[in-house]
Amino acid sequence: MASHNLVFCLILISSLLVIISEGQSTVPVVPGLSYSFYYSSCPELEIIVRSHLWEVFNNDITQAAGLLRLHFHDCFVQGCDGSVLLDGSTSGPSEQDAPPNLTLRSAAFTIIDDLRALVHGACGSIVSCADIVALAARESVFLPNGPYYSIPLGRRDSVNFATRPVTLANLPPPTFNTTSLINAFAAKNLTTTDLVALSGGHTIGRGHCTSFADRLYPTQDPTMDQTFVKNLKLTCPTNTTNNSTNLDIRSPNLFDNKYYVDLMNRQGLFTSDQDLYTDSRTRNIVLDFSINQNLFFEKFVEGMLKMGQLGVLTGTQGEIRTNCSARNGNNVDLASVVGEHQEQEMLSQY
Ligand code: HEM
Ligand SMILES: *[C@@H]1O[C@H](CO)[C@@H](O)[C@H](O)[C@H]1NC(C)=O
Ligand SMILES: *[C@@H]1O[C@H](CO)[C@@H](O)[C@H](O)[C@H]1NC(C)=O
Ligand SMILES: *[C@@H]1O[C@H](CO)[C@@H](O)[C@H](O)[C@H]1NC(C)=O
Ligand SMILES: *[C@@H]1O[C@H](CO)[C@@H](O)[C@H](O)[C@H]1NC(C)=O
Ligand SMILES: *[C@@H]1O[C@H](CO)[C@@H](O)[C@H](O)[C@H]1NC(C)=O
Ligand SMILES: *[C@@H]1O[C@H](CO)[C@@H](O)[C@H](O)[C@H]1NC(C)=O
Ligand SMILES: *[C@@H]1O[C@H](CO)[C@@H](O)[C@H](O)[C@H]1NC(C)=O
Repeated sequence: MASHNLVFCLILISSLLVIISEGQSTVPVVPGLSYSFYYSSCPELEIIVRSHLWEVFNNDITQAAGLLRLHFHDCFVQGCDGSVLLDGSTSGPSEQDAPPNLTLRSAAFTIIDDLRALVHGACGSIVSCADIVALAARESVFLPNGPYYSIPLGRRDSVNFATRPVTLANLPPPTFNTTSLINAFAAKNLTTTDLVALSGGHTIGRGHCTSFADRLYPTQDPTMDQTFVKNLKLTCPTNTTNNSTNLDIRSPNLFDNKYYVDLMNRQGLFTSDQDLYTDSRTRNIVLDFSINQNLFFEKFVEGMLKMGQLGVLTGTQGEIRTNCSARNGNNVDLASVVGEHQEQEMLSQY
C-alpha cells in the first residue's frame, strides 16, 4: 500500500517537473520529432514507463545502468532507431559476448519489451521501441536521483541492424584516450563538453574486468591511485577474470557528480574515464562538474538531448515494431518485398 502511494507521489511530482522543465532546453528538436508527439494518441505513455520502471528499480536499482547504456549504444550505432534491440544485432540479445566486450545486460532487453507490451496494450502498436528505449534511459537518470528532462518523441524503428564492423567502428572502446574520444564524439556532432558530461553516465553501473584489466596487467597504469589498484586486483586476480566492479566507487547507485570526484582522485575505472582528467583540454570541465552538480546536470541533459536525436527515423521511415527484438513480418521470407509495400501503405495513412 505504502509503495503504491509512493509511486503516485512520484508520478505527481514528476508531472509537475515536466511542466516546469518544458521549453528550457536550447537543443534544437530534429524535424519529425516533438515534445507532444503522443499527447493525444497515448497520453498515459510516460506514466506507464515510469511506474513500471519504478517497480523494476525498487527490486534492483542496478538495472537503471543497463537501460541507460542501451540508449547510448542504440544512438551511437546507426542512430536511435532501436536497432540495438534486434535479435541478430552484434550487440543485441543473441550476441552479448561480441568483442569488444559489449556486455549489455540481457535483463535490459527484457525490460524494454515488457514496457512495449504494457504501452501497446494501453495505446495500440503506435509507440516505437526506439522511443521506449529513450524514455527508459530518461527514467534511469531521473529515478536514481538525477535530473528530470522532457525528451522529443516520434522516433521510428529500423528494419535492419548494424553489421559487426559498423558497430565496432562507432562504439568507442574503454582503452581510448581523450584525443580519440573527442574525435569519436565529433563524428556525432558532439562537443568536448558533451563528451565529458555524457561520460558522467558512468556515475551508475558496473564494468567487467576485461574492460580495464589492461590497466592492471602486465604493468600497472601509473595514473591510478594505489589503493584503488590494490582493490581492483582483488576483484580481478588475472586479466581474464569474469568479474565486475562499480564504475563509481563513491555512490554507484546514485546519479550524481561523484564520478568526477573519482577522476580527480585517480579512481576512474577505464582509461577513457581517467584520461579526461589527465588531458588539459578536458581537465577543467571535470573539475567544474566535480564541484557543481547543477552544472553537470545541465550539460548532461544537453548531451542526452543531442545524443537522443542522432540519426533518427521519422514520419513514414522504418516501422513501429510489434516485438522489439524482431522486425515486423520477420517470419515472412519470400513475401517480404510485398509485405514491405503493404507496410508503407498502411503507415502513410498516419
Ligand atoms: C565516452 C565513451 C564511452 C566508453 C569508452 C564507454 C565504455 C563503457 C564500458 C567498457 C562499460 C562496461 C562494460 C562492461 O565491462 O560490462 C560501460 C558501462 C556503462 N556505460 Fe559507458 N562508455 C562510454 C560512454 C557512455 C555514455 C555516453 C553513457 C550514457 C550516457 C554510458 C553509460 C554507461 C553505463 C550506465 C554503464 C554501466 C552498464 C551496466 O552496469 O550494465 N557510457 N561503458
Ligand atoms: C571479451 O572479448 C574478447 C575478444 O576481444 C573475448 O575473447 C572475451 O571472451 C570477451 N569476454 C567477455 C566477457 O565477453
Ligand atoms: C591517443 O591515442 C592515439 C591512437 O592510439 C595516439 O595516436 C595518440 O598519440 C594518443 N594521444 C595521446 C595524447 O596520448
Ligand atoms: C552532423 O551535422 C552535419 C551538418 O548539420 C550533418 O550533415 C551530419 O549528418 C551530422 N552528423 C550526425 C552523425 O548527425
Ligand atoms: C570478484 O570480486 C569480489 C569482490 O568484488 C571478490 O570477493 C571475488 O573473489 C572476485 N571473484 C573472483 C572469481 O575473482
Ligand atoms: C592476458 O595476459 C597475457 C600475458 O600478459 C596475454 O598474453 C593475454 O593476451 C592477455 N589476455 C587478455 C584477454 O588481455
Ligand atoms: C560471467 O559470470 C556471469 C555470472 O557471474 C555469467 O552470467 C556469465 O555467463 C559469465 N560470462 C562468461 C563469459 O563466462
Ligand atoms: C520476439 O522476437 C524474438 C526474436 O525473433 C523471438 O525470439 C520472440 O519469441 C518474439 N516474442 C514474441 C512474444 O513473439
